[in-house]
Amino acid sequence: MKATTSRQLAAQALIEISSGARANDALAAALTEQGTDLTVRDRAFVTELVQGTTRMRRAVDYALEPYVDGKLDPDVRSALRMGAHQILHLRTPPHAAVNDTVAVAPRRARGLVNAVLRKVATSDREWPNEATQFSYPDWIWNLFVDTWGEDGRLALIAMNSPEQPDPRSDGYVQGQASQWVGEAIDAASESGGVIVDLCAAPGGKTTALGSHWSKVWANEIDPSRARLLQQLVHRYRPGTNVVVGDGTQAPFLDGSADAVLVDAPCSGLGALGRRSDARWRISEQAITRLIEVQGALLDEAFRLLRPHGVLTYSVCTVTQEETVDVPRAFETRQQHAASIEVPELRWRRHHKGGVVLPHDYGTDGMAVFQWRRLL
Ligand SMILES: C[S@@+](CC[C@H](N)C(=O)[O-])C[C@H]1O[C@@H](n2cnc3c(N)ncnc32)[C@H](O)[C@@H]1O
Repeated sequence: MKATTSRQLAAQALIEISSGARANDALAAALTEQGTDLTVRDRAFVTELVQGTTRMRRAVDYALEPYVDGKLDPDVRSALRMGAHQILHLRTPPHAAVNDTVAVAPRRARGLVNAVLRKVATSDREWPNEATQFSYPDWIWNLFVDTWGEDGRLALIAMNSPEQPDPRSDGYVQGQASQWVGEAIDAASESGGVIVDLCAAPGGKTTALGSHWSKVWANEIDPSRARLLQQLVHRYRPGTNVVVGDGTQAPFLDGSADAVLVDAPCSGLGALGRRSDARWRISEQAITRLIEVQGALLDEAFRLLRPHGVLTYSVCTVTQEETVDVPRAFETRQQHAASIEVPELRWRRHHKGGVVLPHDYGTDGMAVFQWRRLL
């Protein structure tokens, strides 16, 4: 496959993303509908062009800005961004980045694309701030640095080179930090029994649970995601019962579970590498709504637990609200919840739970808290 064809596919996906499509969906469509003849290497290149250009959009636009006048058509802008990303962030030789991008640019704009990319390749630039250089909205940059200091800065930089996890032994591809959550659940509940996973789709954590569980219930509120979950458990953990419903009003009796997992909907700010467009979609206000749901899910999970049962709360984010305030408020409401120390091997101690920052091991950022129900 010629380099231009990979770039054509990537350019098309980038146009769709700029008009509102989700990056993972646009990429998957490009690869499955037109990219079936691609080699593994070409697929990886298309993926990098699409995800990397999307992720690094702020830096790329800053580098392009001095050389473009006025409004650009989406197809021209997408070609320019893709070319500039290769020049700025990939090791593509500049002449190849320019020539191959010009070849897939709209015919009417090839002169412009050629001239602008040559300028980007040959000019020095000073970044106005690190949020622009490392391509994050200001509020995310400030939130990480205010919360974590230098660690926050390193975490953000690490998320621009996301984890490429190896498949698990059963073939499912799951990030390492998610696997460590599964290990913490299994370790805290050695006697197994009935486990309810209240927020289960797509099913990565459900399907990773140890074999000592006699019954696994996987609940999910979103019917289309529940269908995905059903397919996944059918393949990787047959015998799991899938339930579609709101986990804040779960259809289970009081005290019926030996363990409950709340892998809660969250801001996802620890997984910004894996979801290249997430940093441009999530708003600070969304966190306020999410923490309400997280608290309600924890309370409902506690209702389902039998005495001495184990509750696990995990989120792929590292905000103070979601990883400190929500667990702390839960403990205030539920006096019979005694926190369990998470294994220290991987997790930094974080209040009464644990956290992994993206630069610790090159994984998603993740937080986990566990409690035993006393009465
Ligand atoms: C972080 S994801 C879960 C990931 C999953 N545990 C895994 O490891 O593959 C959170 C899930 O919770 C679902 N969700 C959101 N609100 C919910 C609610 N009130 N009740 C149940 N599920 C909910 C979302 O649709 C999403 O699928």
